[in-house]
Amino acid sequence: MTKYLRPLSLASSIIILLVTLWAALLRLGWDWPTFTPQLAGMHGPLMIASFFGALIALERAVALGKTWAYLSPITAVLAGFMMLASGSLLVPAAWLLVLSSALYLLVGAAVVQRQPAIFTWLLEAGVLTLLIGNVIWALGYPIFMAVWWWVAFLVLTITAERLELGRLQRLPAYAFPAFYAVSAITGIGLLLTWLIPDAGVRVLGLGMLGYAVWLGRFDIARRTIRQTGLPQFIAICLLSGYAWLGLGAVLMMFYGQIPAGPPYDAMLHTIFVGFVFAMIFGHAPIIFPAVLGLPINYTPKMYWPLLLLVLSLIMRIVGDVALIRSLRLWGGLLNALAILIFLVITARGIIQLKLSERA
Ligand code: HEM
Repeated sequence: MTKYLRPLSLASSIIILLVTLWAALLRLGWDWPTFTPQLAGMHGPLMIASFFGALIALERAVALGKTWAYLSPITAVLAGFMMLASGSLLVPAAWLLVLSSALYLLVGAAVVQRQPAIFTWLLEAGVLTLLIGNVIWALGYPIFMAVWWWVAFLVLTITAERLELGRLQRLPAYAFPAFYAVSAITGIGLLLTWLIPDAGVRVLGLGMLGYAVWLGRFDIARRTIRQTGLPQFIAICLLSGYAWLGLGAVLMMFYGQIPAGPPYDAMLHTIFVGFVFAMIFGHAPIIFPAVLGLPINYTPKMYWPLLLLVLSLIMRIVGDVALIRSLRLWGGLLNALAILIFLVITARGIIQLKLSERA
């Protein structure tokens, strides 16, 4: 049965991603048609709680190898479709996302039990932050109160994946206390976003900066960047992602809590687009084969969407910070295009490989 659940969950989450990118562009200010009035406002929860919630939980369900673990990604995509179907389904969908992340927490607990290690605990901490963010949103608080928990979810999950893949260099003794100190600052920052939001976002920014420096210092990418082909491509994705995470962290420390608008856009998307999508570009050759059981055909063409992502994000962030609307609009549009081009190149690579296997 899991043979069907994997491609089905992956295909549905990619549909959610595509609709969410459309929602993002409406939210940015492109005056384009929409099939439902709530679409633009749903961009954030759809992207994180539904799409990433499903994608990452799916990866874990595959690793755990238990059918019940697929309930988490399935409920996340179902909630996404409910949100798109009707505004009246928003509240049940939000609670379904809470259920999905609670199920994912159980999957994480099973993984920790099977393999107690720093990375499994960190993954579980990431799931907890997703769950808390989803509960805050389901209780009806504004998204800017939940969003910092969602930021932590993605940063902790990606850091844990780097640890899991053993892609960190031989760690010196001081690396562990530094890691725990960064994690403690992140935890304190998150709690403060609830109690004293402005100070909380700044402290959380310090934690995020700590993760960016820690990953940049210890990731094996610093060495593999001197290789060629796929390892070099992955290294460039990762190192550019860490730089974006560092910049996002500095913006968080600078601006503090803001409920909406261009600086808010800059703080969030340096991390969500610059860091998270660079990681997806770099990890796709590892994630897709694991989830689908299909290899990915690396091609140097993958550099084009990465380059477009970086340049368009620079445009967007300059537009945000300097309040130049046209730069922000075009930068955001090209961000979405970069993601689409990467998806097309990856899908083409998989199809070509399948066809050549059959021939
Ligand atoms: C790729 C193109 C993207 C575009 C054009 C875009 C656009 C936007 C815009 C315009 C906003 C509102 C900012 C404001 O208040 O002015 C926003 C908010 C947000 N975005 Fe994106 N976004 C994109 C990608 C992403 C990605 C990849 C993620 C997650 C990984 C993400 C997650 C969010 C979240 C959580 C919010 C906060 C929502 C809220 O407060 O209502 N976005 N986005």
